[in-house]
Amino acid sequence: MNVAILGSGRGSNADAILRAQSAGLLGGARIVSLFCDIPGARILELGPRFGVPAFQPDAGPFKTKFPPEVEREWARRIRDTGADFVVLAGFMRVVKAPLLEAFAGRIINLHPSLLPAFPGLDAIGQAWRRGVRVSGCTVHHVNAEVDGGAIIDQAAVRREDGDTLADFERKIHEAEHALLPAVLARLAAAEAS
Ligand code: GAR
Repeated sequence: MNVAILGSGRGSNADAILRAQSAGLLGGARIVSLFCDIPGARILELGPRFGVPAFQPDAGPFKTKFPPEVEREWARRIRDTGADFVVLAGFMRVVKAPLLEAFAGRIINLHPSLLPAFPGLDAIGQAWRRGVRVSGCTVHHVNAEVDGGAIIDQAAVRREDGDTLADFERKIHEAEHALLPAVLARLAAAEAS
């Protein structure tokens, strides 16, 4: 399974995946490229650090969506790196037909809540403000409905008495860093068998 990671920001989940790969924990999944839609985002620094090609193609004039022709160009560029599977790890742009069709059934996303609760932006803040005692993270297949594809796996996080929002965020990110590489390794193993 040749995987492209798409991200927009810090890249801590891409970092967790690449560290898992370096430790031999990704099984048959191989990270072949990183793509980022935000100039100068920290995720781009992971490319040289891990020896993985990193790209920041123009994503068009909007903040959270692609113009269709730009999305087709992204699909082509991702394919050109040899990728046959896409992981959205903090990619803050809605993915539509051009990418969904180019990687049919082969795009997964990480979301920082226990879906179907708290889809959309600022999921951690939404859960915090709602006062839930258990939240977490979800890895799911991507389809045309934002955060609505079939759930692959989840990890739960408890909000303890005295936890601050920063504690809650840290615990959810720690859960993500364990969950996403484990799911990738499992999907690659299932594909190889
Ligand atoms: C992660 O918490 C991920 O779940 C979230 O963005 C963060 C990226 O962090 N994704 C979404 O909210 C997607 N809707 P990272 O750049 O450090 O990996």
